[in-house]
Amino acid sequence: MAAWSGSAWSTWTYCTCTVFARTITTMPRPNFFPALEELRTEGKIRFVGITEAFGPDPQHRMLVRALEDDYWQVIMVGFNLLNQSARERVLTKSREKNIGVLDMFAVRRALSNPDALKTLMGDLAAQGLIDRNAFDPDDPLGFLAQNGVGASITDAAYRFCRYEQGIHVVLSGTGNVAHLEENAAALTRPPCRNRSRSGSATCFKT
Ligand SMILES: NC(=O)c1ccc[n+]([C@@H]2O[C@H](COP(=O)([O-])OP(=O)(O)OC[C@H]3O[C@@H](n4cnc5c(N)ncnc54)[C@H](OP(=O)(O)O)[C@@H]3O)[C@@H](O)[C@H]2O)c1
Repeated sequence: MAAWSGSAWSTWTYCTCTVFARTITTMPRPNFFPALEELRTEGKIRFVGITEAFGPDPQHRMLVRALEDDYWQVIMVGFNLLNQSARERVLTKSREKNIGVLDMFAVRRALSNPDALKTLMGDLAAQGLIDRNAFDPDDPLGFLAQNGVGASITDAAYRFCRYEQGIHVVLSGTGNVAHLEENAAALTRPPCRNRSRSGSATCFKT
């Protein structure tokens, strides 16, 4: 499921060719672009996109490099409450170049599984990447589901991404119908109250 945002990309219903570049070392070189351009001219594909491997490349090194070229009309990037580094490293440039952006990992494991979140926050604190005193170790992001901020942590997490400038589509992956309905509702709600405060409270950049 994807939530559209902004008018420029809201009519994007054509086929996109996506290149998967795992790391900077597999960043595609321009040699196959003439073939893709030909397919575009023939109307067989409308946009050419590139997607990162967010797990091994949470700093977006591949996309930063890719954005130096002018081949890409669409990119897929990992961005969420816990890793907002794409804002400066990727979205500034993609906005400048009017590139369509799909957001993945809006929720994934840590933001949908309380135990995984506790473990992750503990690990990050142990590495000195976040302040151990800045969150409740038993319920690190519980405040997002309290006092009317969000309906739940996942609700707040999807809405946080939905209103990020430069993100046009927020992907939501689920195999659960109830979750699908919750997420569809979340993605049509307004920004969470205190969006910037909620975000900065857990902000860390890898
Ligand atoms: N490099 C790549 O190109 C790449 C890599 C990863 C993903 N993707 C794309 O991104 C899309 C979205 O994947 P994602 O992993 O980024 O999705 P996501 O929405 O961030 O996370 C999906 C995970 O969150 C859980 N979840 C979703 N809604 C929930 C809810 N309301 N309550 C509790 N748990 C919930 C799902 O479990 P349940 O099934 O139990 O709901 C699933 O484990 C994929 O379909 C794929 O197209 C691309």
